[in-house]
Amino acid sequence: MKLEKLKKKVAFEALKFVPFKQIIGIGTGSTISYFIKYLSKIKDKIIGVVSSSKKTTKILKKYGIKIFKLNEVNYLPVYIDSADEINKNMEMIKGGGAALMREKIIASASKKFICIIDKTKKVNILGKFPLPVEVLPMSYKYVKNELKKIGGNVIRRKNIITDNNNYILDINDFFILNPKNIEKKINNIPGVLSVGIFSKRKPDVLLIGKNSRIETIFKKF
Ligand code: A5P
Repeated sequence: MKLEKLKKKVAFEALKFVPFKQIIGIGTGSTISYFIKYLSKIKDKIIGVVSSSKKTTKILKKYGIKIFKLNEVNYLPVYIDSADEINKNMEMIKGGGAALMREKIIASASKKFICIIDKTKKVNILGKFPLPVEVLPMSYKYVKNELKKIGGNVIRRKNIITDNNNYILDINDFFILNPKNIEKKINNIPGVLSVGIFSKRKPDVLLIGKNSRIETIFKKF
C-alpha cells in the first residue's frame, strides 16, 4: 500500500479517540493534515481545538473548526499527533515540521497522547531521522558547538524561522541509544528551547498504519 494511503488510514482510525463535546490538542504534519480533514466531518461533535502550529491553524480555519489558545483551556483530554521516528519503548523523534516546541507543550498538557504513524516510522534505534533542536537565534553558534560535543553532525536548518521566531539545528548521524539521558542533556544547554526527543512525554496509545490492518499499542504502566 502506498505511504499516503497508510497515513490516511491511520488518520481515519484516530477519529475513534475524539471525545464528545471537548477541546482537543492537535499536532502538525502530513498525517495530521489528513486527520483534520476527517475531523471536519464530525466537527460539531467537539467544542474546538488547541493547535500546535501556524500550519495546523491554517488548515483548521479552512475547515471552520474553532481554535482555542492553550491558556484559554482548563482541561485537554486528548492530544493527537504523528512522529518522525518511534522505538519499541515509545520514545520518539518529532519536529520534522519544526513545530516540536508547541507540540511538546500541548502533548504534556494533555491527559492522553494518541500518536498516529505509518509503519515506516517504527525504528530500532532513534537517530536516522535528523534530531531537531529549537534554539534562541542569538545563541545558535554556542549551542551548535555544545551539541557537537554530545555527538553527531549539527546543521542549521536553512530558511526556517519557527512559529516562535527561533532557529532549528538538526543533529545528523546521531544514533540515540539512551533517549532519556540525551533529552535531559540537550535541554540543559542554555539557549536550547526544545529538543525533538519525546522520551518523557510518550504516547499513551500508538496507532500504526500497516498494509493489512491498524495495530494499536497501549503504553505499559
Ligand atoms: C512536526 O513538527 C512533526 O513533529 C510531525 O509530527 C512529524 O514530522 C510527522 O509528520 P508527517 O505526518 O508529515 O510524517
